[in-house]
Amino acid sequence: MRTAVITGASSGIGAATARALAADGYRVVLGARRLERLEALAAELGGEAIALDVLVNNAGGALGLDRLDEADEDLWRQMYEANAMGTMRMTRALLPRLVESGDGHVVGVTSIAAFETYRGGSGYSAAKHAQKAVLKTLRLELLGQPVKVTEIAPGLVETEFSVVRFAGDEEAAAKVYEGMEPLVAEDVAECIRWALSRPAHVNIDEILVRPRDQATAAEVHRRPAAP
Ligand SMILES: NC(=O)c1ccc[n+]([C@@H]2O[C@H](COP(=O)([O-])OP(=O)(O)OC[C@H]3O[C@@H](n4cnc5c(N)ncnc54)[C@H](OP(=O)(O)O)[C@@H]3O)[C@@H](O)[C@H]2O)c1
Repeated sequence: MRTAVITGASSGIGAATARALAADGYRVVLGARRLERLEALAAELGGEAIALDVLVNNAGGALGLDRLDEADEDLWRQMYEANAMGTMRMTRALLPRLVESGDGHVVGVTSIAAFETYRGGSGYSAAKHAQKAVLKTLRLELLGQPVKVTEIAPGLVETEFSVVRFAGDEEAAAKVYEGMEPLVAEDVAECIRWALSRPAHVNIDEILVRPRDQATAAEVHRRPAAP
């Protein structure tokens, strides 16, 4: 039985990915800070919950939407820690086991913010560009080893992402998805499941996935509310 370690599995894309891979027969090992949620999901899927001291390849997100001239250094640091340093730490720790498996796979959930920038998004984009650089470098360093590297870069997905970004302000979070149809966590999980289910010699480098209603990070088609 193959084993998948999924971080940030207490909600959103991570939780949906854990469900999708468990359904495909993987033994799933889950990580995040909210252990009670992990334990419930692990019990449902017959997986394992572990408390993590470091952050991991899906775990992450954005904090705030401040212009650069008002940048909060502490929020920048937290975003860099969660998205970029987390990917480095988890990969560094697990790489020997992935090589040993003879058919390993590292997936990083970055964002369209790893490909483009938008007003108020400098801190998050900087962290996601850094996470992307880690994954691209890893692909070079692993050439010749039996480990694949895939970057999954979603656009707008309705999860707890915006509630976290706006520090619990549900109204501000709801506005992000107003009048448009965002992706749901399962759409992204399906991309991950598909990339993982290709034959061993096929490496899916990048999947950039957006809602049909989104052309760039800032250009979103919104329908007026029904009268
Ligand atoms: N939703 C979107 O629109 C969107 C778009 C592009 C990319 N993404 C990326 O997708 C990934 C998953 O986000 P999501 O949309 O599923 O959001 P979410 O519902 O807020 O889930 C984020 C997950 O990451 C974990 N996490 C966050 N900060 C952490 C930390 N410092 N230490 C350990 N775990 C941490 C959270 O667990 P705990 O809070 O329990 O620790 C949670 O399980 C993130 O990397 C995010 O940047 C999201």
